[in-house]
This record gives sequence, C-alpha cells and structure tokens, in this order.
Amino acid sequence: MLRTTASPIFSSFTAKPTTSRLIFKAFNVLLEDTPPSARRNASTNLTTLHQGPPTSAYVHLPFCRKRCHYCDFPILALGSSASSTLYQEGQGDDPRITNYVNLLVREINATRTGFDTNPELKTVFFGGGTPSLVPPKLVSLVLETLSSRFGLCPDAEISMEMDPGTFGGEKLKELMELGVNRVSLGVQAFQDELLKACGRAHGVSEVYEAIEIVKACGVGNWSMDLISSLPHQTLEMWEESLRLAIESQPSHVSVYDLQVEQGTKFGNV
Ligand SMILES: C[S@@+](CC[C@H](N)C(=O)[O-])C[C@H]1O[C@@H](n2cnc3c(N)ncnc32)[C@H](O)[C@@H]1O
Repeated sequence: MLRTTASPIFSSFTAKPTTSRLIFKAFNVLLEDTPPSARRNASTNLTTLHQGPPTSAYVHLPFCRKRCHYCDFPILALGSSASSTLYQEGQGDDPRITNYVNLLVREINATRTGFDTNPELKTVFFGGGTPSLVPPKLVSLVLETLSSRFGLCPDAEISMEMDPGTFGGEKLKELMELGVNRVSLGVQAFQDELLKACGRAHGVSEVYEAIEIVKACGVGNWSMDLISSLPHQTLEMWEESLRLAIESQPSHVSVYDLQVEQGTKFGNV
C-alpha cells in the first residue's frame, strides 16, 4: 500500500512516508517508472508492481536529535548528545545507529528483485530522520553493500537529507568522497520564533552556517525544504522565507504545506 500524507507543493520528487497505517521499510529498490509521489513513500516492494528491474534505492536512516512538533515519521530521537561535535564530525559510535545499519546491510543483501540481472543503480536517496547524524563510515558500509548487491553507476546521483547543526565541512567532505553529490537541507523557515515553535533543534544561524558549508564544499546540487501554513506564520514571514530561500540559490526548493498529524504535538493541541 502506498500512501502520501504530505507531498511537496512543488518538487522533482519526495513525499512523506507515514507510520500510521503501514510498516515502513528501511530499504526499498525503486523502478525507473515509479511515479514520483511514490518514491519516498514506498512501503511495498515496488518490483512486484512494475515491469523491469530497479534503478533507484531509497534508504531510511531514522535518527534525529529530537522529534519536531509536526513530525509523525518513523524516527528515533537520540537526544541532545547527538548534536555534539563528536556526532557532527561523525566519530561517535552510537550502538543504536550501528545496530540499525548492520540490520539494514543484511536487509539489502537479502533483497530479491525477482530479476536475473539488474542494471546498476542510477540514484540512491538517504532519507530520514536526519541521515547527516549517521557517521560517514556507516554510510560507506551501506553504499558498499548497495554497490556489491546491485551495482552503482559511476555517475549515480546520491542524495542525503541533512539538517542544519548536524554536520560540519569535514563530515560533508567525507560524505562527498563516498559519492554523496546531492544535499537536501531541512530548513523549514527563516524565522527563529517559527523554528522554535516547530520544535526544531536548530535556529536560523545554523541554517546559514549549513548553507555556507554546503556551498564551500562545492555541492552544486542541493535543495531546501520549507513548510508553509505553520502556526503563527504570517504572510510576511512566508514571503521572507521564500525570498531568503531564493537568495540562497539552491538548485531546488521543496515546499510542503503543513499537515497536522494525529499523535504529534501539533495534532494534540
Ligand atoms: C523526511 S522529512 C526530513 C526530515 C529532516 N530531518 C528534517 O526535518 O529536516 C522531509 C521534509 O518533509 C517535511 N515534513 C515533514 N513532516 C511534515 C508535515 N507534517 N507537514 C508538512 N511537511 C512535513 C519537512 O519539510 C521535511 O524537511
């Protein structure tokens, strides 16, 4: 079953997976002709729904520092220790992350596509959660496993969702050396009061720092997520966020209209 509860208003792809009515899969191979709205939301092995072998993989890395007030994603809040320099630079060995990645690797190796031969993967998307909290050596393990199990095109697009305040230049460079060549930055708003009201673990200064790091590291292909219709968000604030997003010159902006989900802090108000 595929279900989308919060789709970007405009985006080349991405839709929000949901926990409520389905078992979320940590790993999915996706087909070239899979509708964009289904790519991030796949709870079923899509190879059973389409003709042809997979060319894309979605990898769910469900760790966040804390749960945002709008979020009903399948995530694990690690707590504030995850925002320490140790984790930002990816040297921390949190067993919760290591154990998950070890299981993920087993799942990738056990995945059967139903085809005798598979073309190399053209795209890999690390979504979350906050994949930028995961140490690069574990990202490397996942990529090596994907490569040996399915093959990876030399020019594959490898995207990672990253949150402001969870990575520094050193960590991003390490990820780029592993092949990550597209960053999806979770900004949501350019006003501290809105970020605070959403329960975000970062403020606007970390947003600008993150943008600077992405640019300084030479990631040309990066996108930014914004949320509209947030509580207390005035039209002026929304126009300011759009203007500042454009001024930051990402190659793509995904705008999500707020979905108030049952069981979230916003849903309980
Ligand atoms: C998988 S989430 C990214 C998680 C990432 N750690 C973050 O929060 O920045 C992808 C995007 O979905 C959007 N999103 C998540 N929950 C939403 C909701 N309830 N309503 C609207 N947009 C939502 C946010 O813009 C978020 O950046």
